[in-house]
Amino acid sequence: MSKPKIGIIVGSTRDTRFADKPAAWIAKIAKERTDLDFEIVDVRDYNLPFFNEVASNAWVPSKSEAAQKWQKKIGSLDGFLIVAAEYNRSPTASLKNALDHAYVEWNKKPVAFVGYGAVGAARAIEQLRTIAVELQMAPTRTAVHIAGADFMAVWQQGKNLEDFEHLNQSARDTIGQLAWWTHALTAARRNDAVAAQAA
Ligand SMILES: Cc1cc2nc3c(=O)[nH]c(=O)nc-3n(C[C@H](O)[C@H](O)[C@H](O)COP(=O)(O)O)c2cc1C
Repeated sequence: MSKPKIGIIVGSTRDTRFADKPAAWIAKIAKERTDLDFEIVDVRDYNLPFFNEVASNAWVPSKSEAAQKWQKKIGSLDGFLIVAAEYNRSPTASLKNALDHAYVEWNKKPVAFVGYGAVGAARAIEQLRTIAVELQMAPTRTAVHIAGADFMAVWQQGKNLEDFEHLNQSARDTIGQLAWWTHALTAARRNDAVAAQAA
């Protein structure tokens, strides 16, 4: 059986974003796992419009081709590691828009977060956890918070994230929780599919 696949979602889309640094760092640490495959899923690559469908695709198939492409990608993945910035104490609008552009494809899958900012995007991530519940996802207890002086050192002072051992450790712990839920929920979804075929 193929390994479960995790999408590392880059949730800031602006040209001069910091997001590439935490995305590359977490992708490198994630590669230590031999039981999961990881790929970067950059919201910027999908050119999603602002949501303009008649309903969520929980109810009505989306018309936008960009949305369909996004849904296909999300549907092909078994779990998510979202790299999250915090704008005005919230998730970025582009990430929220991307979350809204799928529904069934998120269902019954786990999600963990890597946040960065003054407080490691803790306020944005709490909102994202609530959104994840509505999307029928399982958010992990732990997230990675690149905060305060650590964030400033990498953002403005030329330090690298891998220089911070407590962040490397937090990343491994969070990915470990995500891995547990990914295996559990992938097996449960496969059982559901078998039961549905037999019915
Ligand atoms: C519109 C806007 C609002 C912001 N609000 C917050 C905030 O509420 N909390 C915070 O820690 N940083 C805030 N920041 C600073 C961001 O943490 C910082 O710009 C970071 O680089 C944003 O991520 P990005 O570069 O990947 O887009 C804000 C930045 C922008 C552009």
